[in-house]
Amino acid sequence: MAKRLVNDIIRMKHDGQKIVELTAYDFTFARMMDETDSVDIFLVGDSLGMVVQGHPTPIPVTVEQMIYHVEMVSRATKNALVIADMPFMSYQINESKALENAGRMIQEGGANAVKLEGAGRNVQTIRTLVEIGIPVQGHVGLTPQSYNKLGWKVQGKTRKAVEQLKNDALKLQDAGVFSVVLEAVPVEAARIVTEALDIPTIGIGAGKHCDGQVLVMHDMLGMGDYARVFVKEYAQIKPIVQDAIRKYSTEVRSGEFPGDKYAYKSGIDE
Ligand code: KIV
Repeated sequence: MAKRLVNDIIRMKHDGQKIVELTAYDFTFARMMDETDSVDIFLVGDSLGMVVQGHPTPIPVTVEQMIYHVEMVSRATKNALVIADMPFMSYQINESKALENAGRMIQEGGANAVKLEGAGRNVQTIRTLVEIGIPVQGHVGLTPQSYNKLGWKVQGKTRKAVEQLKNDALKLQDAGVFSVVLEAVPVEAARIVTEALDIPTIGIGAGKHCDGQVLVMHDMLGMGDYARVFVKEYAQIKPIVQDAIRKYSTEVRSGEFPGDKYAYKSGIDE
């Protein structure tokens, strides 16, 4: 498959093809994953604040830090669409700040699109971004940048909340987003929103009815202690890494490594 563009992602919903989205944060992993040509979208998520930087939430992540990571992922990626997550306070202050920061993600970071959390007062900003040619992915349900208000609680659990979720997603669609992430909502709520939209929904903890799925790479590769109900670990990398580290330490201490094998053998010129 060739490089995915925004219109390919929208078409996949209409063709009944599920969309595969995964987070990526650095060159080596992005290249390894992109070489499989099986991922449609890399999201350089502000979840890097947690899985790369070790913060409890994504709130401390800055624009400069995002650009640093987006650039590494863009440089490695030939096939997937690259989305840069707009970090907290990079789009909320006013529209011109949002345009400037989103423009930097595209121009300096090399991203193909940006993602913004929430609807409400962001809708007009999103409309302008789309009008000037910056594709946007929306994000509703549990929005991690609102941690201080929502915590990590499942959203959309009442009829009224589902109606609100659907209306927010419809407003984002009307503003021109090409897809919407639905995070941590009940399966039935995600079905209602997905059926109401022409654009794809991408679920994380939102069940089987979404048009696509996204997971945090560290979660699905079993790299940390991040397991949650909706995370399937497709590999357990942590014990493999720790086993290799222990073997290396043992061999260095015993003198087995590097031995004669892992060394330059040529002599020293006089
Ligand atoms: O930052 C992130 O990785 C995200 C996904 C969880 C959707 O926003």
